[in-house]
Amino acid sequence: MPKIILNEKEIDFEEDINPYLEFEKLGVDFSCHNGVCGTCKIKVLKGMENINPKTEMEEEFPLDEDERLACQCHKLKGNVEAKYEEW
Ligand code: FES
Repeated sequence: MPKIILNEKEIDFEEDINPYLEFEKLGVDFSCHNGVCGTCKIKVLKGMENINPKTEMEEEFPLDEDERLACQCHKLKGNVEAKYEEW
């Protein structure tokens, strides 16, 4: 079963799910849920290829190449390891 590893905590998930609840259980804070506020910004350490392509909202947000907005990660197809820092 694929895993999300966030700040060295991990959780298993079903493939092709929307991972919002899993990210939240691992400690990611969400606010707008629409790719506007940046509260949920994560740095992807491994597995970027397992996440859906960046959404239009993420393309407009000032993100580094290895960063994503967790609220815009709608499908995961395999292991993802990421880092999250509270703002
Ligand atoms: S919760 Fe606001 S950008 Fe993700």
